[in-house]
Amino acid sequence: MNKIIILTGSVRPGRFNIQPARWIYEIAHKRKDAESELVDLQKVNLPFLDEPVPPSQNKYSKDHTKEWSQKVNETDGFVFVTPEYNHSLSPVLKNAIDYLFFEWHYKPVVFVSYGSLAGGTRAVEHLRSIAAEIRMYDLREQIMFPNYWDNLDENGIYQFTEEHEQLANRMLDSLIFWSQVMKDARAKLSNPQE
Ligand SMILES: Cc1cc2nc3c(=O)[nH]c(=O)nc-3n(C[C@H](O)[C@H](O)[C@H](O)COP(=O)(O)O)c2cc1C
Repeated sequence: MNKIIILTGSVRPGRFNIQPARWIYEIAHKRKDAESELVDLQKVNLPFLDEPVPPSQNKYSKDHTKEWSQKVNETDGFVFVTPEYNHSLSPVLKNAIDYLFFEWHYKPVVFVSYGSLAGGTRAVEHLRSIAAEIRMYDLREQIMFPNYWDNLDENGIYQFTEEHEQLANRMLDSLIFWSQVMKDARAKLSNPQE
């Protein structure tokens, strides 16, 4: 069974991020074709990158790096749930990515984003170029919530629609399909670190 991680991209108090992250996790969790986990960077709680050796040399010294490495290593596909901060991704998400290298290789990623009019798209465009460097495969599928604050109820809860859910399932169809294809491909590599 393929393993999918839904990764939060904000750890701020009062963050919106956890709402779309929980929403997409609930949809993924109902499916029988993959095992899903919501991984919250607030709980992972990585410090700013504190390894003396770059991750491409695979010599981790800290327990938090080894644990994060194991978590990403055992995962076949990712949903990055990202805010847009000053037209880019959040530092906490970039930091979590930068900690590792080979663990991301040859694995697909899709995006849930939100923000003002652009719906977080500028952050996703930056994530797509980062994905290339760590040999991830960014799929075309993306769900955006532009001006998300216009669709909050009186308790601050976002009103997800049936249409959003359909889009989410189509996005997950693609992610899970490519997770399997790339898992098979990874198994054929003589040196998975190339
Ligand atoms: C440091 C910072 C920079 C921001 N820059 C942008 C931006 O460039 N584009 C945008 O659409 N929203 C921007 N916003 C507004 C965010 O879309 C909004 O605050 C959102 O709730 C942030 O996600 P979070 O609540 O999950 O942390 C910014 C917010 C912060 C805190």
